[in-house]
Order: sequence, then structure tokens, then C-alpha cells
Amino acid sequence: MPPTLVRTPTDFRRLCDDARARGERVGVVPTMGALHAGHLALVSHAKRHAKLVAVTIFVNPTQFGPGEDLDRYPRDLAGDMAKLAEADVVFAPEATAMYPSGDDTRVRVPTLASHLCGPFRPGHFEGVATVVTKLLALTGPCVAVFGRKDYQQLAIIRRLVTDLFLPTEVLGHPIVREPDGLAMSSRNAYLSKEERARALGLSRGLARAEELWAHGERNAKTLRDAVRDEVSRGATSIDYVEVADPESLTPLPDGALAGGRPLVAIACRIGTTRLLDNRVLGEPDEGA
Ligand code: PAF
Repeated sequence: MPPTLVRTPTDFRRLCDDARARGERVGVVPTMGALHAGHLALVSHAKRHAKLVAVTIFVNPTQFGPGEDLDRYPRDLAGDMAKLAEADVVFAPEATAMYPSGDDTRVRVPTLASHLCGPFRPGHFEGVATVVTKLLALTGPCVAVFGRKDYQQLAIIRRLVTDLFLPTEVLGHPIVREPDGLAMSSRNAYLSKEERARALGLSRGLARAEELWAHGERNAKTLRDAVRDEVSRGATSIDYVEVADPESLTPLPDGALAGGRPLVAIACRIGTTRLLDNRVLGEPDEGA
């Protein structure tokens, strides 16, 4: 059975409330559509934890900065619906339903948002935190699944759920990769064949860091430089390559030794497409 499509916040809230009234656990997978196998893995994961699984599809304008790809972001609701056999409900609101006239509240998680992507995308995480808070407020008590490719986003969402006492259990899902290692992303659709090959530098860089780590390398600069070397072979420009604390996201300075399990995070452009990837060293990369 195809999922039930709802367009208004009121209808979405009602379906979630009705499910809980029947004693069902609700799961939600927030997305911006253009669904790929990575998203579908999040839906399957949600289905293992909840009886009624809702997928939200909303290209959230407040998380795009001026000059970013809001207008050309891929949109294909019919195609997305056809892929969502496992979901029960799809909530695909208009922007005016999520941000009606008079809307004036924003959610900020400033310290976590100040690292990694934050300085390169001013306002982005405020937009993400705001829309996710709205979506979780509509869903009500539930389990919510997010991908670990957007590691910083996941950390920010965990923080806001804790700080705002939202009745949400947040689950992170391992990165889903193409067979050659490229992390799945809706933005991969922008890559030409030649750029697609160059994009493999990100996962290769992370694999190189993992190899060095396994051989006992702990120097943050050595690890970072090795990743940067690999990424720079194919990247048009690099926003950052960081070795950071996996909880606070604070980048380790040159000369620091990476204790525990450091996060290695990359953001770069291949042509005009901005790609992200990350890995927590010493943890299995169960991304396949
Ligand atoms: O990761 C995404 O697709 C978006 O940032 C999210 C969480 C759906 C909020 O718009």
C-alpha cells in the first residue's frame, strides 16, 4: 500500500495522535526529498522501532543561504512517494504551512553550530534546528531517525531535543555508501561523471585516516594532513578537513594528540557541488 500523503500540519498531527491512541509507536524520518537508498535505510531503521512510520518531505527554505541551491534542489514528490513502500505516512507541506505569516520563532544551538560547517553556512543550522523542532512538535512522542553523514546536524538535533525536553528518541544511522565508497547524498545528482570520480577523494581520505589510526598514529595534524592530501587531489576547493572531538565538535589544534575516538570531518566542493563526509576513527564504518 502506498503511504498516505498529508499536506497540512493539522492533518499530520492528527495521524500521529491517532496512531498513538491505537497504542502504536510513531517513527519519523525528516527529509528534504530526492530520496535515495540512504534515506530508505533510515525508513527501514524507523520501521524496526515504530509501527507507524512517517517521512517528512520539505525543502526547508530557512536552512539555505543566499546563493545556495534552494531553487535547484531536486524535487520529485511522485518519485519519492513511489520509493516509500515501507512508510505509512508522508507529510509534504507547503512552505507557507510551515512558516505562516507572522512566524517569528527561531531555534539556535550556537556552540555546536559554531564549528565545522557553521562558519561556512551562516544561519544554516538555525534553519535546520527551527524546522526540526517544528516537525518534532507536530509528530509528538516518537522515535526520529537521522543519518550520520550530517554528523553536526545530528549532534545539534540531539542537543535541542535534550534542551527543549522534546518527547523524541533520536537515533543516528550509519552513513550509507555507494559500492565504491561515495557517501550517498541527494546532491550527488549534481555531479558529472568526471566529478563523481573525483568525489571519491573524500571516502579515500577517511579510509587513509582510519589506516593511520589503526597503525597507532594519534597526531591530529598528521591525520588531518593525510586526509587533506587525498581530498585535494579531486576537490575544486576545501571548506575544511578537521579532526575534532566527537561530542563537542571542537577541532583539535595542531600538535594535539587525538585521544578517545576522534571525528574526522570533511566539507569540500567538487565543481560547484558541496559534499560532506565523516568518520569516527576506531569505530566500524558500517556504511555499506
Ligand atoms: O538532513 C536533511 O535532509 C535536512 O537538513 C532536515 C533534517 C530534513 C531538515 O530540513
